[in-house]
Amino acid sequence: MSDTPTLDISDKDDELDAAAIEAGRLLFAHECRFVAGAATTSIIPDPDRDEIAFAGRSNVGKSSLVNALTGRKTLARTSQTPGRTQQINFFLLDEKFYLVDLPGYGYARASKEKIAAWTEVVNRYLRGRPTLRRLYLLIDARHGPKPPDQELMTMLDKAAVSYQVILTKADKARPSELDRAMEATKKELSAHPAAHPFIIATSARTGAGVEEMRARIATLAELTGMR
Ligand code: GTP
Ligand code: MG
Repeated sequence: MSDTPTLDISDKDDELDAAAIEAGRLLFAHECRFVAGAATTSIIPDPDRDEIAFAGRSNVGKSSLVNALTGRKTLARTSQTPGRTQQINFFLLDEKFYLVDLPGYGYARASKEKIAAWTEVVNRYLRGRPTLRRLYLLIDARHGPKPPDQELMTMLDKAAVSYQVILTKADKARPSELDRAMEATKKELSAHPAAHPFIIATSARTGAGVEEMRARIATLAELTGMR
């Protein structure tokens, strides 16, 4: 595993201190439970709690990252076949706030009507969610941003949603690929005002970056008084 990319490659806005790491660990040690799956806009839960959402292309690893963060292998259903998640799934962490696992965009082995329907649900969700504190936009560490990611960024800028890019599957990326994806993402982000400029490289498989993300989320929750 000598060439496995590690966190050193991810940008850091500031050093995480031991207290933040511990806060992240404690937060995600709490119970996390599935509360709702919304396939239509009408059944999206009321915005009664703060939330953090995970978006990205089909198969990029959104559900796997939710599982890695919560330390529960089967909380969010994952699949080798793109298009696994076909509704917006809400998981309540520590009875406090929602982790929101979104269906992917791009390729999906589903009917056009179905894809159109869930794209509509996701777009409506993203445009009108005052409780959405942060959206994590997941991008494959081997490939960097693609046109659908750029489109989502533009939409998020317009909707004034605060978002941050997470590179996924870092265990599968060669160091040179990861470097290239980092650079391409940084370049892309410089054109997007609502984007957080720092990028975290993660692997749901090895756990790289997971502790850091837990700590970042705990810090965000603390700073914004999430409940
Ligand atoms: P949709 O719900 O279809 O949009 O996909 P998703 O983004 O939720 O992806 P999912 O978590 O279902 O993962 C897709 C595939 O990638 C699965 O086979 C996972 O096991 C695999 N995968 C996810 N994260 C990682 C990772 O960090 N490393 C590796 N090697 N594989 C991963
Ligand atoms: Mg999924």
